[in-house]
Amino acid sequence: MIKRKNILKIAIDSPAAAGAGTLAKSISKHYNLFYLDTGKIYRFIAYLKIKFPNNFKNKFIRSKIKSLKIKDLLNTKLLSDEVGTEASIISKNKSIRKMVHSFQINFAYNPPKKYKGSCLDGRDITYNIVPDADFKFYITADVKIRALRRYKELKGLKKKITYKEVLKSIKKRDKNDLNRKISPLKKTKDSLLINTTNLNKRACFLKIKKIIDRKIKI
Ligand code: C5P
Repeated sequence: MIKRKNILKIAIDSPAAAGAGTLAKSISKHYNLFYLDTGKIYRFIAYLKIKFPNNFKNKFIRSKIKSLKIKDLLNTKLLSDEVGTEASIISKNKSIRKMVHSFQINFAYNPPKKYKGSCLDGRDITYNIVPDADFKFYITADVKIRALRRYKELKGLKKKITYKEVLKSIKKRDKNDLNRKISPLKKTKDSLLINTTNLNKRACFLKIKKIIDRKIKI
């Protein structure tokens, strides 16, 4: 696999709805990094399982990942709670993770030339996908705040769901993601903890920017 030299690599892990995606997007834009929300790939596979339950075999999944385009990950259908819950189930599968792994590694280490590097967020990015990242962050927030943010996001998309249901499903996903044997969500020792409970988007962005700028001195 080709690996571009001297690129900036940022790895982020976080539980659901902690604000990592929003933050990663603004950081990527600011530093001109190729951004990948890795959860969307698991959501994409979960969506395939819901849509094509009878075809859901390794060969089918592999061919879909092979032809996967970034625009496929922008489908708003991937944002539903049903897809999120299914994603946390299929992501426990070892062979599915293996298929997704090489896509992510290629994305992280070989971003298109016009980008100065890459930024990936997910559950196992800091220790599995980009273990040598220049910056590692573990972004979290109180579970009730996370549920409220996700609830507002889903309401904005006109999804029929209550706050209570969102809270319940986030708790269930946390349990799945933290306790699974394969690639569980964890904060590595070399990741910086950012708690976004009492921080707005701008404050989170500035906090991370300060950490990055101190080291790269741009
Ligand atoms: O980040 P998001 O909530 O979209 O992720 C959906 C699900 O995909 C997570 O609950 C998790 O189970 C799985 N996932 C994963 N590894 C990643 C990213 C997401 O297992 N790197």
